[in-house]
Amino acid sequence: MRICVIAGTNRAGSNTLKLATRVAADYRALGAEVVLVDLQALPIECLAPTAYAAKPASFEPFAQAVLAADGLVVITPEYNGSFPGALKLFIDLLPFPQSFENRPVAFIGLAAGRWGALRPVEQLMQVFAYRNGLLFNERVFVPAAGDALGEGGRLTDPLAESLLVQQTAHFLRYCEAVRVLRG
Ligand SMILES: Cc1cc2nc3c(=O)[nH]c(=O)nc-3n(C[C@H](O)[C@H](O)[C@H](O)COP(=O)(O)O)c2cc1C
Repeated sequence: MRICVIAGTNRAGSNTLKLATRVAADYRALGAEVVLVDLQALPIECLAPTAYAAKPASFEPFAQAVLAADGLVVITPEYNGSFPGALKLFIDLLPFPQSFENRPVAFIGLAAGRWGALRPVEQLMQVFAYRNGLLFNERVFVPAAGDALGEGGRLTDPLAESLLVQQTAHFLRYCEAVRVLRG
């Protein structure tokens, strides 16, 4: 199984990337081949007004990471009640419609606030549903993000930690089932 984990912000030192690194390791431990997309590495030319029509060659590895994946794990922080602009730019630059069409997508949110990025996850689910992604309904929400990550990226809250472990195992099985159905 090829899993693409997307750390949904380009903020230096983000908790999102720390959590994404841990999630990627969990999928690898279950035997998946994992590509971690770190939006900090998004080439600056992706911001050029011409980037939509003529994709920069430097964006190609990012697009390939998505196109080759059996499943996408989108990890988003909450920025101003939504998901980061860098993540939307990434989504908007991906090839259409093949990037999300019938591709399984799982969601994890984390926020400083108490709702654990419920808003950005629900907003992202609308975007991916619109693009015919196969939404995986077991979501994980991580509140108080600054204190949420402990040793080795484990979540300090036992319930959130167990939900994350469960999501990882179940999503991998979901991706396997979809691949079988696709033939
Ligand atoms: C531009 C910006 C806007 C933010 N807006 C919110 C917000 O609306 N609600 C919230 O709970 N936390 C908000 N935060 C805090 C983040 O949720 C917090 O930094 C958390 O660690 C996840 O973001 P990170 O991956 O950048 O660390 C914001 C952070 C930034 C940088």
